[in-house]
Amino acid sequence: MELKEVKELLEKYNQEQLLKYYDELDEAGQKELLRQITEIDFSVLKLVEEKNIEQVRGVIEPINDLCSMEDIEARKDEFFVIGADAIRNCKVGAILLAGGQGTRLGSDKAKGMYNIGINKPLYIFEMLIKNLMEVVNATGAYVPLFVMTSDKNHEDTVSFFEEMNYFGYDKSFVWFFKQAMAASCDYDGKFYLEDKGKVSMSPNGNGGWFISLGKAGLLDKVKELGIEWLNVFAVDNVLQKIADPYFVGAVIDSKTVCGAKVVSKAFPTEKVGALCLEDGRPSIVEYYELTDEMAYAKGADGKLLYNYGVILNYLFNVNKLIEITNKEMPLHIVEKKIPYIDADGNYVAPTEPNGYKFETLVLDMVHLMDNCLAYEVERSKEFAPIKNKTGVDSVESARELLSKNGIIVE
Ligand code: UTP
Repeated sequence: MELKEVKELLEKYNQEQLLKYYDELDEAGQKELLRQITEIDFSVLKLVEEKNIEQVRGVIEPINDLCSMEDIEARKDEFFVIGADAIRNCKVGAILLAGGQGTRLGSDKAKGMYNIGINKPLYIFEMLIKNLMEVVNATGAYVPLFVMTSDKNHEDTVSFFEEMNYFGYDKSFVWFFKQAMAASCDYDGKFYLEDKGKVSMSPNGNGGWFISLGKAGLLDKVKELGIEWLNVFAVDNVLQKIADPYFVGAVIDSKTVCGAKVVSKAFPTEKVGALCLEDGRPSIVEYYELTDEMAYAKGADGKLLYNYGVILNYLFNVNKLIEITNKEMPLHIVEKKIPYIDADGNYVAPTEPNGYKFETLVLDMVHLMDNCLAYEVERSKEFAPIKNKTGVDSVESARELLSKNGIIVE
């Protein structure tokens, strides 16, 4: 698009601020800025207008496919055999979601490069690879690992793995791919510039991982290797088991197309999303969407009906993922700290949220699945997320949980 058309476009959406510094740019910079503006999805601005409108949900019911800790204990040997067999036959791959910005942790590097050691370095990526190596050691097979990054951290992430020699993992089993980005705006719906010639872009959420995997040409690799199941997991849970043979075995055995690791709620109103059924399909109901009656309701087993909180560790059947690839996913509006260029042309890195970014979420993918096995794990053994610097879900709390599991952080 030429300048004249871009100006018309911006006028239409009331976004003329994006050309504020246009005249100060050289020719190449001007061209690049026009290109970026042309690629903006202006339809997201509707979400800013509608942000206070409550989402209409379908009929919410308790999840029906459940493998409780008692069930797992009773059948664990069986599950291990099925899962380990799938792993040895290269039917299981792992997807590390590492495209986020970790703004709450406040590091400008990729979150996985964060050092949680005290006197001796222990990086988040290193801890995850250690966890994955347990499976390699138990099964004798490497698990193909696909790492999703974003424009903001791709180069850093790849060079870090190289520099650290993949923390001992066989690098021929590791691939990186970039997720897509989306423009971010202020509270009034005005898109930010992050430089005079650069629209402020943020990673577009973790829900686009499968499309991005395909765009990077890696779905061909998944098919070539014969991978049938993909275990998707977050970068920040340092205690999690990845490609856990027991989990894989239980999902395969249950004949569901998806599995979610879940933990029992600590108390009925805990602020976690719980696996449920929505209009008969698996879904996640947020704590604020439950009425008190629902939050406290118990089943015949004495457990809460909406008891099982998700921990962002899912197993998806690849054929099913291919089938749902083009299905639309809801777009969420998320408050974030967004660096920007202020009215005087100065770069500002805010310390508090100052606007919105737009994301699709992997949890919405669960709703596109026909069914989902809730696989219950013990929170203190498998859930140590690092979201914040201190306090709840922080480096400190994760160190404590690691040490309770015999991993002393020095
Ligand atoms: P979070 O929701 O915790 O977001 O991501 P974040 O960006 O890492 O951190 P904050 O909110 O800015 O502090 C959950 C998981 O999803 C990944 C993250 O890397 C993490 O593993 N993620 C998130 C992506 O891969 N891409 C995204 O666009 C967002």
